[in-house]
Order: sequence, then C-alpha cells, then structure tokens
Amino acid sequence: MVADLVSLLEPETFEEGAPHALFDWLRENEPVHWNPGRPERERAVGMIEPEQRGFWVLTRHADVVAVSRNQELFSSERGTAINADMREQDLHMFRQQMIHMDPPRHTQLRGAINDFFKPRTIKRMDANVRELTREIVDAVAVKGSCDFVREVAAELPLLVLAELLGVPREDRQLLFDWTNRLMGLDDPEYGNPYDAQAALMELFQYCAALAHKRKEDPRDDLMSVLVHARIDDRELDFVEINMMFFLMVIAGNETTRNALSGGIEALCHFPDQKARLLEDRTLLKTAVEEIVRWHSPVMQFRRTATRDTEIGGQAIAENDKVVMYYGAANRDERVFERANQFDVGRHPNPHVGFGMGNHFCLGASLARSEMKIMLEEVLERIPDFELDGSVERLRSNFIHGIKRMPIRFTAARG
Ligand code: HEM
Repeated sequence: MVADLVSLLEPETFEEGAPHALFDWLRENEPVHWNPGRPERERAVGMIEPEQRGFWVLTRHADVVAVSRNQELFSSERGTAINADMREQDLHMFRQQMIHMDPPRHTQLRGAINDFFKPRTIKRMDANVRELTREIVDAVAVKGSCDFVREVAAELPLLVLAELLGVPREDRQLLFDWTNRLMGLDDPEYGNPYDAQAALMELFQYCAALAHKRKEDPRDDLMSVLVHARIDDRELDFVEINMMFFLMVIAGNETTRNALSGGIEALCHFPDQKARLLEDRTLLKTAVEEIVRWHSPVMQFRRTATRDTEIGGQAIAENDKVVMYYGAANRDERVFERANQFDVGRHPNPHVGFGMGNHFCLGASLARSEMKIMLEEVLERIPDFELDGSVERLRSNFIHGIKRMPIRFTAARG
C-alpha cells in the first residue's frame, strides 16, 4: 500500500514538494488514515518530545471542514495546533498563543486585535503595499534575472510585516532569519532544534524591547495595540505579548513568501494560464485564490479530540491527534472539478488554504492584497518571466516552502 511506504511525519517526504500521489491515494482509499508515530530519535531535542505519538491523517475536504468547524470536539488547546507533541513544560507557554487556544480565551484575544486585520483596514494599506511592491520589482526588473524567492517574494511580506508590527525597516532581516531558523529546523541549511530555541529567545528579547518602547510612546502599529489592550480588565502579560509577536512573525511572513513563489512557479509551468492573466487582469482575484489552493503554503494543522467520536465512520479516541492536510483537501474532486488543473479563473473556489472556522487565517485579507498587487506588478514589469534553473524546496513536514527559484526575463530599461 502506497501509504505504508511514506511517512507523513518525516520532513524528507516533502523535499520534492507536496506528495500529491500519496494524497490522492489516501483520499480515495483511506480518507481517515492512521499514521504510526515514531520512536525516540536522536534529532528530536528541544521542546519536542523525543517519542512522537501516531496521528490520524485527513485528506478529504469535507472532513477538514467538519473538524475545523468543531472546536469543542476538536481542540487546538488540548494538545497544540501543530502535529509535534511537545514537552509538558513547554506546552504551557505555547498555550498562551492564540493559535493554540480554544474559546473563550481564543475569542477574547482574537477580538483584541481583530480590527487591525479587517478588510477595510487592509484596504487602507493598499497604496503603501503598492509602493513597496514597485520598489521591489523595479530593483530586479533591470537585471534580467533574479532569485524570485529572496529578492522578490520574501521582501514584500517582510516590509509589510515590519510596518504592521512596528519593527524598523532595517531590522526586517531579523524577522527573515528567525522564521527560517524556527520553521526550517528540519532543513540542515537553516538550522536544527537547538538553534530554533536560540532563535526564539532572540525573538523574545527583541519583542520585550519593542513592547517597552511602545508602552511609553504608542504609535499606529500592532505592538502599540497589544501593549495597551485589555482583556477582562487586565493588560496582556509579558508571555502573551511575546507569543503574539512570535505568531505574527511566523504566520505573516513565510506563508505569503511561499504563496507568491508557488504562484509564479505555477504560472511558469502553465503558460496558457499566464497568457489568460496577461490578457485579462480582472482574473487576478480568482488567480490569487487558485494559487493558495494549488500551492497550499501550509501543509497541515492539527487538532486533538476532546472525547471519543468518529470521522467518516472511523472511530477516534479521546486525545487522539487529528491532522488536516490542506493541500490534499484542496485537490478533492468531490469539491473541485478538474482538481489537478491549475485554473486562474476557477470560481467558486472553496479552498481551505487559509483554514476554516474559529482559527481561519487572521491575515487572509492582507495576504490576498499582497499577492494581488505583487502579481499585477510582476505581470506588468517582467511579463515574460520563466524558470531559469531548479527550484529548491524547504525540507519540512509543515510549511510548503520554496527556498530558491531562479527566473529570467527581458530586462526592463532603468
Ligand atoms: C498566503 C498566505 C497565508 C496562508 C496560506 C495562511 C494560512 C493559515 C492557516 C491555514 C491558518 C489556520 C490555522 C488553524 O486552523 O489552526 C492560519 C491562521 C493564522 N494566520 Fe495565516 N496564512 C497566511 C498569511 C497570513 C498573514 C499575512 C498573517 C498576518 C500578518 C497571518 C496570520 C495568521 C494568524 C494570526 C493566524 C491564527 C488565527 C487564530 O488562531 O485565530 N497569516 N493561517
């Protein structure tokens, strides 16, 4: 059986991209599949338990939606929202982060910052995002070739995130570095579990200094909102602020970088779809959604069953880990016609690339706006872009990451 041959826990499974052949097989044959855990490994150090429990693998759209929408039965807080089992002493800290919370704590904390991410607020940022995008694309357009990931896709989310958080522009490289070391801990190029812990400590230290500054001198940024927010008539504590900063740095940066890179890669592979977009820019909106469906930048998130239950007829025991594979659900033929075709005009497109339910991506409007504006500018300035070498991917079972993607194009006049 195909499913026995590959472990979804092993980062090497994803080194060549999402394992769609495996996902297709699972979705049709074992949509609620038991993946055994793994015994103690030398590599598993730091906050992760050396021994990892087995978990249920969900690959059908309907199951991913049902689990995401039922927070009472499938908790983000009982375990965490990530697959890896953590040491008990570290779990406490992680549960101070919104993404690893259930209601009512989750609802309160999300409510405290929600206004900052509303589509109306994001719309007001569009002119600034456009200006930053032009700056980035102009810098490469004259060169005739570039590494799209480092020089373009990474830059925009970093610049936007720095402004949003109140981090000075010149410090954005720190955000890039921390994200790579934390999310790339399974990729030898970027780090290891010991170094990931060091990166987290550096990030906390930076956050503490910034929080202190904004407490004294509030500005128009998210850190100022956080340090002055009140929940149940108390201010957020030091750990809650640190963990929110940590979440934003990770969630708002690498995801969009990979969505942009995955989108440009898809347009290189499907020139007919690129031609459609070049001809009709009104397709940009649906193209953005299709890119998130097609690339699915976040491979999976987890929930933990709060009592004995069942999914699709399969018994699930209390405390079992249930892992939702978004990329698999996003190719489910039961929901998406011609699911294995990239179609920039796809509509409707009820993908789960941004999740679903209570934890639906808070930054979805911002990510959509960054992606739309970047696509527009790239199509305008360097329309004949094509791949110019091999695409290097992140070794990770969590993030569908692209590390390097050389492209070439006709150089624009300066
Ligand atoms: C294409 C880009 C992005 C993708 C694919 C993406 C994907 C996701 C997914 C799948 C979740 C759901 C987690 C769950 O259900 O447990 C999520 C949550 C979240 N995302 Fe995004 N994201 C993107 C961009 C962003 C950006 C730009 C930001 C902020 C600047 C952001 C902030 C968040 C936050 C704060 C959460 C947690 C929400 C909660 O727990 O209530 N994301 N994202």
